[in-house]
Amino acid sequence: MNSDTLKHASAPLSQEMLDKFAREVAKYPPAGKDSAVMACLAFIQQEEGFVSLQRERDVAEYLSMAPIAVHEVTTFYNMYNQHPVGKYKLNVCTNLPCLLRDGAKALAHLEKKLGIVMGGTTADGFFTLQQSECLGACADSPVMLVNDRTMCSFMSNEKLDQLIDGLRGATTGEAS
Ligand code: FES
Repeated sequence: MNSDTLKHASAPLSQEMLDKFAREVAKYPPAGKDSAVMACLAFIQQEEGFVSLQRERDVAEYLSMAPIAVHEVTTFYNMYNQHPVGKYKLNVCTNLPCLLRDGAKALAHLEKKLGIVMGGTTADGFFTLQQSECLGACADSPVMLVNDRTMCSFMSNEKLDQLIDGLRGATTGEAS
């Protein structure tokens, strides 16, 4: 985590961010403004890359929620990053059905290829490797999600190599 990231995540929320919060809160009746919590956290993550404890407190204060209630949201959903992550966040499903169908093998292959252990980020900042709960595609195992959006199915070691080499090539401009 560089000092700029830390500084940014502990500065007061920008007016632009507060405006986004207000637009989201306006979608709900006043008594239900805490329904905007997931959207507010997502805005912060889009802007800052992760949701710090300070930002959880900021959101809690804005929505008149207990900070622990906001923390429960960020820790329940895989998509919220509680720490800075690499350019590509790789979430490999290791829930039981996937575990029985090479999910652990896929994770181990990525650990070896990237030279990091689960939960780590490569030194170049490109890749963060994480486990994931069921992604709802058990029949397609091994499965993984890239940056919370792109689902990758039937990830054999060869397909994992192609994916990593392709993403690295796209980032560095080198052909894979
Ligand atoms: Fe992996 Fe369901 S257990 S997608």
